[in-house]
Amino acid sequence: MKLKIAVLPGDGIGPEVTSQAVKVLKAIAQEFDHSFQFKYASVGAVAIDEFNDPLPKKTLDLCKSTDAILFGAIGDPRFDNNPSAKIRPEQGLLKLRKELGLFANIRPVKAYDNLLDKSPLKRQIIKGTDISIYRELTGGIYFGEKSLSEDGNTASDLCEYSRMEIERIAHLAFKAAQTRKNKVTLVDKANVLESSRLWRRVVTEIASDYPDVSLDFLFVDNAAMQMILNPKQFDVILTENMFGDIISDEASVIGGSIGLLASASVGNKYAMFEPIHGSYPQAKNLGIANPIASILSAAMLLDHFELFEEADLIREGVEKSLKLNITTPDLNTKYNHISTAKVGDFIEDFINNPHDTNMNFSNIHLGQSTII
Ligand code: IPM
Ligand code: MG
Repeated sequence: MKLKIAVLPGDGIGPEVTSQAVKVLKAIAQEFDHSFQFKYASVGAVAIDEFNDPLPKKTLDLCKSTDAILFGAIGDPRFDNNPSAKIRPEQGLLKLRKELGLFANIRPVKAYDNLLDKSPLKRQIIKGTDISIYRELTGGIYFGEKSLSEDGNTASDLCEYSRMEIERIAHLAFKAAQTRKNKVTLVDKANVLESSRLWRRVVTEIASDYPDVSLDFLFVDNAAMQMILNPKQFDVILTENMFGDIISDEASVIGGSIGLLASASVGNKYAMFEPIHGSYPQAKNLGIANPIASILSAAMLLDHFELFEEADLIREGVEKSLKLNITTPDLNTKYNHISTAKVGDFIEDFINNPHDTNMNFSNIHLGQSTII
């Protein structure tokens, strides 16, 4: 398959982790005889520095001319600590999502057996957790009208949803549930918010098209508690933009590191793949950032084009790296100095030699005996 992929590394650790995902995609292309072409563009704080625009037109045009987008991270403390900044890196990401119509953000959350003890939650609570969060991404309070009174003392952000915006992601969530455990949980705040009551009404109607899928409802405050009390009860979680943002960071605790969580953002025409973690500026250029979320986002990119065997091979490589402790310091208590690039090298090697059970890979300089 021929694919043209826009790579937007962005800020902080974005470039380091994204380059590992590109490395892995190149290995896949070589092994499976695909042709992946990578085109780079800037976004976020680096784009503000260079073009005074967090999403330069050139970047947006490139995204529109490619088959898929691999996104790194955006954010910079220079802006976080300055509430009056008019131009902010996050605007680049939000505009990209909106302009490309990426209305559904899919965030898989899984407890890996090898990492059960890395989570602060008890292993018996998280073991076997496998959740797919469907977060609405281009509506709600993120995109509603914003205002600040002239005296600067009153502010408002409007949370608005239309039936159409709810329907299109709800269908995707129900379809996903049909390939999983046939359960959708709608997370909302329908006891307080009118917009949530609309979600309940529309999603309930749509549920009748999917009689094999059960639908239940949870208020977001209760859902936040259930997520750490009994995460195994969830299959597909469907929710609006901001609740999904919050719940998915919370859910990342189950996996043991936020550095593991990948995501796909899809619309009718475009698709973008990005780790859910942020730019982690403190770790920039230290080689300690976990590249797995970015690498798993690359696997989701391949899934999107129905390259399932290829995507599975990446996931197998990731699981192998976790099993053998070829992991960055957020997960690794056994070996020192396994860098971002080393993890990428290992997974690249695995793809090139999936049947090399000796794991004596050329790029790993740990020595076989230390690895196994
Ligand atoms: C995410 C991030 C973004 C969001 C930020 C960077 C704007 O937290 O993708 O979860 O809130 O959507
Ligand atoms: Mg977030």
